[in-house]
Amino acid sequence: MKKRISILGSTGSIGTQALEVIEKLSDKFEIVGLSAGGNVDLLNEQIVKFKPEYVSVSKNPEKVVGCKKVLFGSEGLEEICSDKSVDIILVAVSGKIGLKPTLTAIKNGINIALANKETLVMAGDIVMDLAKQNGVSIIPVDSEHCAIHQCIKDISQVDRLIITASGGPFLNKTIEDMKSATVEQALAHPRWNMGRKITVDSATLMNKGLEIIEAHHLFNMPYDRIKVVVHPQSIVHSAIEYVDGSVIAQLGLPSMHIPIQYAITYPDRFEGIKSKSFSFSEIARLDFIEPDFKKFPFLNLAYDAGKIGGTATVALNGADEEAVFAFLEGKIKLYDIYDITEKIYSSHSPVLKPTIDEIFEVDKDIREQTKDLIKRSYLCLSI
Ligand SMILES: NC(=O)c1ccc[n+]([C@@H]2O[C@H](COP(=O)([O-])OP(=O)(O)OC[C@H]3O[C@@H](n4cnc5c(N)ncnc54)[C@H](OP(=O)(O)O)[C@@H]3O)[C@@H](O)[C@H]2O)c1
Repeated sequence: MKKRISILGSTGSIGTQALEVIEKLSDKFEIVGLSAGGNVDLLNEQIVKFKPEYVSVSKNPEKVVGCKKVLFGSEGLEEICSDKSVDIILVAVSGKIGLKPTLTAIKNGINIALANKETLVMAGDIVMDLAKQNGVSIIPVDSEHCAIHQCIKDISQVDRLIITASGGPFLNKTIEDMKSATVEQALAHPRWNMGRKITVDSATLMNKGLEIIEAHHLFNMPYDRIKVVVHPQSIVHSAIEYVDGSVIAQLGLPSMHIPIQYAITYPDRFEGIKSKSFSFSEIARLDFIEPDFKKFPFLNLAYDAGKIGGTATVALNGADEEAVFAFLEGKIKLYDIYDITEKIYSSHSPVLKPTIDEIFEVDKDIREQTKDLIKRSYLCLSI
C-alpha cells in the first residue's frame, strides 16, 4: 500500500526536495495535498506531475490550474490537516504559519514529518504532549535532529546531545565584517541551499539557537545537556554521548534529501536519491571547533529563553523573525537583528505555562513591538 502524504510548503526548499524524493519513490507514496504561499506557477507544475487531490495557496487561488479542489489561506492548511485519510504530513512552511496546522494534524491522529522548527520553539510543550495523547509520531526533518533520532535507542541512557553547526558564511570573519555584511553575503551559505529566513538565521547562528530549543522538546533533554560544536564540513550531522562515554554520530554528505526521506519513510529505509557513495578518504578531514558565543550571541539568548521556557521562546522567535524580514528588506543591518531581538526579548515578561491562545497573543504582540522598534530605528537610520 502506498503511503498517503500531504506537504505544507511544497514550493519551498524542503518542499521541492521532498517532491524529488517522492518522485524517486513513486511506488511508495501517493500525494494527497500540496500547499504553497504565492508561487502558483511552480504549484501548477507540481499539480501536473503529482496530481494531488487538492491544493491550498495563500495568494492568487484563481491562477491555480489542473486541480479540482483549491483551498485558500490558513483555513486551507487546516482543511489539509483535517483529512484523516492521510498517513503523514510534511510541515515545510517557514515561520509561525506551521504551528496551527501541525496542532490540527496531531489532533486528527496524523503523523508528522516536521521541518518547521518554529512550531516546537513556540509551543514545544503543548505540541509534544498532544502528540503523546494522540499516539502521533513527530519525526524531525532538520538534519541535526534527524541524526540524533537515528542515533538514539533509549533516551534514558543518553548523557548529552551534541549538535553540530556549520558556522555559516561568517565563521572565519570578524565581528566588524559581520556588522558591515550585505544581504547577499548573509545569504551565501557555504554548505546548504535553503530558504531565505533560515539562511539568515544560519548566518547569525540563531538557527542553531532554535535547534537547541527544538532538540530539548523532541528528545526531552535538559538544556545543560545539549551542546553545540562547530563543524564546518557538515559531514557529522550531530551526535549523542551515552552515560558510559560511548559517542554515536550520524554522518553523511550534506544533502537534505537524506533527512527528508528518513522522516517520510520512517521506520523503513529505501534506496533513494544518493548523489554518490560516502568516502572517508575523499572527505579526509573533519574539524570541530567551540562556538564563539561573543560573535554569535544568539546562542546564549536561545539557551536563556529555553531554560525560562513558556513564552520566552515565543518572544525570541517572533522578534527574530520580524527582524530577519526587515534585514532582508534592507531596513536594518545584520547585527541589528540581534540588538533588536534582544531588546524586545528582554522587555518581555514570560508566561510560564501558556495556553495556545496566550502563545498566539504574545506572538502577535511581540511582532507588533518589533515592527514598531524597527520602524523607529529605520527612521533614525534614514535621517
Ligand atoms: N531548507 C532547509 O534546508 C531546511 C533545513 C532544516 C529545516 N528547515 C525548516 O523548514 C522550514 C521551511 O524552510 P525552507 O527553507 O524550505 O523555506 P522556504 O524555501 O522559504 O519555503 C517556505 C514554504 O512555505 C510556503 N509559504 C510561505 N508563506 C506561506 C503562507 N502564508 N501560507 C502557506 N504557505 C506559505 C512557501 O510558499 P511560496 O514559495 O509559494 O511562497 C514555501 O513553499 C523552515 O521552518 C526551516 O527552518 C529548512
